[in-house]
Amino acid sequence: MKDTIAIVLAAGRGTRMNSRTPKVLHDILGKPMIHHVLDSVRQAGVNDIVVIAGHGSALLKRSLPDARVLVQKELLGSGDAVNTARKALGRYTGDLLVVCGDTPLLRGDTLRELIRTRKSSGASAVVLTTDLKDPTGYGRIVRDENGAVIKIIEELEAGLYEKVIEEINVGSYCFRAEDLFDALTGVKPDNDKKEYFLTDVIAVMNRKKKTVKALKTDDTDEAIGVNTKNDLAEATRIMKGRVMSELMLGGVTIYDPSSTTIYPGVRIGADTVIYPNTIIESDVEIGKNASIGPFARLRPGVRLEDNVEVGNFVELVRTEIGEGTKVKHHTYLGDAKVGKNVNIGAGTITANFDGSKKQRTVIGDGAFLGIGTRLIAPVRIGSHAVTGAGSVVPKNRDVPSGATVVGVPARILGIAKKKRVRR
Ligand code: UD1
Ligand code: CA
Repeated sequence: MKDTIAIVLAAGRGTRMNSRTPKVLHDILGKPMIHHVLDSVRQAGVNDIVVIAGHGSALLKRSLPDARVLVQKELLGSGDAVNTARKALGRYTGDLLVVCGDTPLLRGDTLRELIRTRKSSGASAVVLTTDLKDPTGYGRIVRDENGAVIKIIEELEAGLYEKVIEEINVGSYCFRAEDLFDALTGVKPDNDKKEYFLTDVIAVMNRKKKTVKALKTDDTDEAIGVNTKNDLAEATRIMKGRVMSELMLGGVTIYDPSSTTIYPGVRIGADTVIYPNTIIESDVEIGKNASIGPFARLRPGVRLEDNVEVGNFVELVRTEIGEGTKVKHHTYLGDAKVGKNVNIGAGTITANFDGSKKQRTVIGDGAFLGIGTRLIAPVRIGSHAVTGAGSVVPKNRDVPSGATVVGVPARILGIAKKKRVRR
């Protein structure tokens, strides 16, 4: 969408987080909260994005190398934050999508609809709203007797009759840029916080007889603004739920979603079963009919083919595993490539870090690793090779195909003449 620019408000101190990390850089399932917001903005088709930074702006810039980051000099409120963008935007006359950097559950589809509503209605502003049973803390949407939106009143300013309003301001808006900047000149910091509230532009627009519309979303979760660590946990819980719901619709069995964590973007084939207390982080792909957990941890860079079994207390990172291989108990594999139909004995460990670099381990098809095998990388285990219980294979002492090795350090007992054929 060429005629729309997004402004992401992210300068706030986030005082209520009680943290040294800027609020919008707190992690939700592998990404800073604000990255989720930018993802949704891009999904809505807006690629020109201006982020307003203040508190921790240097860290924010480093975290967002692809966005235009502007610094709000003094944190005088969300209205002042938008004014910071105004100077940079010059005589821009298109649409402005304004969102908060602390609402990570916004959906791209909803933002797209917000923009579409602005363009099709010709209104000066469209405000995203939702009905909350407990609206405490949010700005309330005040409508007149005909249902037209006349103002947004903040919690601290609201009177008794306004406090009972359940329709709240999500903090996402689409404006005609000219009407927004014109209305902002009429916003005064005449509230208890002495801040310029962006939300006050709605009342100003009304006084100027401009049209303001509301778009209501049924997904109340989208509204969750993260202001405390409790909100952060709640947003994480909801995002996990969304990820797992999608996977289950695609045919994945998740035994106990409440004890399972799966990050966005993970791909899992149909009929794979995920057992309880398992965590699957970003950049993981799992084939069909696999079995994972209970108590497994799959970290980034893991690729599992069909019918792989990963059992309890297994940690995998940057590791590829071929079809039908079993890694069932108490194992750590890092930077490894494992072939098909391999049996990794209980307690097998790759020593992938030599103190300065990560080193690779390669295990060929049909290999059989005895319990407690230690593989000091870089090392290769040939196809159909066997390691005895407790063997330690030193680095660069590759085990030939079909060989059986035992002991510490592992020595070759013999080499099978014919490769064992497994079906
Ligand atoms: C804001 C809205 C409220 C809405 C809620 C939704 C205002 C005045 N109120 O309240 O109606 O229901 O979000 O979550 O906007 N910010 C700046 N610079 C500043 C102050 C704030 O960039 O000087 C940014 C913050 O980083 C944040 C956003 O603006 O992303 C909103 O500020 P915040 O203090 O979180 O406002 P809320 O009280 O949550
Ligand atoms: Ca907020």
